[in-house]
Amino acid sequence: MTRTESAERVRLPEHPSSEFRRSAGRFPTGVTVLTCVRDGEPHGMTVNSFTTVSLDPLLVLAVLGTGSRTTGQLLAGDGFAVTVLSSLQEQTARSFADPSRTRGGAAFSGVAHAPARRTGSPVLLDGIVYFDCAVESVHTAGDHTILVGAVQAFGPLSEEPALLFSRSRLGAEPDLRQP
Ligand SMILES: Cc1cc2nc3c(=O)[nH]c(=O)nc-3n(C[C@H](O)[C@H](O)[C@H](O)COP(=O)(O)O)c2cc1C
Repeated sequence: MTRTESAERVRLPEHPSSEFRRSAGRFPTGVTVLTCVRDGEPHGMTVNSFTTVSLDPLLVLAVLGTGSRTTGQLLAGDGFAVTVLSSLQEQTARSFADPSRTRGGAAFSGVAHAPARRTGSPVLLDGIVYFDCAVESVHTAGDHTILVGAVQAFGPLSEEPALLFSRSRLGAEPDLRQP
């Protein structure tokens, strides 16, 4: 297939959402878990749509499925934490993405965590960095919701390689310092 033919095919997909998913999945990302505490119960979900937004003020965002239970919890309060996962946390990424997972505190059992200082949201201590955020704004975008957080505190957790997500697969960040 020529490059022109390939471009035509992408413009007129037969199954737009699955083609879109596959195409978008070629953009490698890191993996995070967003957490919060609501009515004394912790909640968390795996999210790869995390990005930084602004340096002044410090803002980050995540794009969340509007129908998701945990999205509802994240939007129901005024703070949340983001833990960027390390390559040693593949299982954690999978478990916080499992819709049939145990909810509440049991979801965090066996996962080392501590409350973030400003919002009290669980920080997963085996991650590589965390951001503790106040909800700055919420924007509906199609079937997703863009959650913008104002960073109240952040810090490193470890020097492990990051966990990456690409082509629907999880794997360790390669050592890009190699010549
Ligand atoms: C690597 C990975 C990345 C994900 N990224 C997102 C994301 O950015 N936004 C989202 O809404 N769901 C994302 N998910 C799916 C949610 O983690 C999953 O649907 C979760 O069960 C949602 O929580 P809920 O069961 O409380 O609705 C991702 C899943 C995986 C495995």
